[in-house]
Amino acid sequence: MKFRELKIGDLTAKLPIIQGGMGIGVSLSNLASAVANEGGIGVISGVQMGFREPDFATNPVEANLRALRSEIRKAREKTKGIIGINLMAAMNNYELYVKEAVKEKIDIIISGAGLPIALPKLVQGSNTKIAPIVSSAKAAKVIINSYLKHDRLPDAVVVEGPLAGGHLGFKYEELIEKSYKSLKQITVEVKELIKTYEDKYDVKIPVISAGGIRTKKDIEEVMEAGADGVQIASLFVPTVECDAHENFKRAYLEATNDDVMIIKSPVGMPGRALKTNFLLNSINGEGELINKCYLCIKNCDTKNIPYCITTGLVNSVTGGDGLIFAGADVGNIEKRLKTVKEVIDELIN
Ligand SMILES: Cc1cc2nc3c(=O)[nH]c(=O)nc-3n(C[C@H](O)[C@H](O)[C@H](O)COP(=O)(O)O)c2cc1C
Repeated sequence: MKFRELKIGDLTAKLPIIQGGMGIGVSLSNLASAVANEGGIGVISGVQMGFREPDFATNPVEANLRALRSEIRKAREKTKGIIGINLMAAMNNYELYVKEAVKEKIDIIISGAGLPIALPKLVQGSNTKIAPIVSSAKAAKVIINSYLKHDRLPDAVVVEGPLAGGHLGFKYEELIEKSYKSLKQITVEVKELIKTYEDKYDVKIPVISAGGIRTKKDIEEVMEAGADGVQIASLFVPTVECDAHENFKRAYLEATNDDVMIIKSPVGMPGRALKTNFLLNSINGEGELINKCYLCIKNCDTKNIPYCITTGLVNSVTGGDGLIFAGADVGNIEKRLKTVKEVIDELIN
């Protein structure tokens, strides 16, 4: 199969590949621009971006906004390709970060972890595209119908299946029992739903499938099920250009699929991560005490969570023992650090 370009409104990516946003700090301007330079869509993670700023502990929101502007600008300096940002709807000050990204003229906002229903209003009057992340046709329908109240449709829809890394839109029990629908099945169902809107409104809304995609064959399979493109994350972690510390990349290269577990994240959703000491100790009640809040997520129950998710993710991305999100197929990623160009060449050839 020769892959077609991916058109999202007036944006055209040479390749139908979006690099999934990875927070905290795993996909910033370096990784995103490298993917965009190869013809894909590079996505900066918009979660707690200010973690390297000196005032992050005292003024996290200002630090995040500053880093958001700076990472988008840095990416623009490194590429003329398409750059997006991933913003989680469950984040505190979500609206503020969306508006700042729009001001910076980000090409596309990809948004999940909660219902990103505020997006149409927040991007109004701009050329920024919006792509909600869903894990079922039912969720896609709720979101699209809410967008229609603002006379807007999504510009693309990302379908994230049960094998993805990070937070997952499935029930904890479904993930443990593996009683979920496959990515292919969900893609078929979302595609059918989207077609009804495409026919009614005479528009094209590309469907992008994500979760467990590692080879050209995996891409072909979801495309046969109707996907117009794919979103891939874990495969881009062990690359030279990935923004995470080398210890984080090494953890990926050493991981087997048995090192992956389903967690109950403080975000209030299940997630998929590597069994690090940080995680195992926290689950056993022997974790770090939480004595500082970085205001990351709405409704965080600070008194009852086993660990602070910002602390865990910042620890790992900076090279320490922390929380490392990973897709279910991480153990099958080739055990060699590659360049983004090599990863993409292998995916398309
Ligand atoms: C390290 C890591 C961090 C992630 N962080 C986010 C995030 O902040 N927001 C989000 O919507 N998805 C996040 N994801 C999900 C990815 O964007 C992507 O959709 C998913 O991992 C695709 O599956 P794959 O990793 O098997 O390719 C993360 C995934 C990983 C592996």
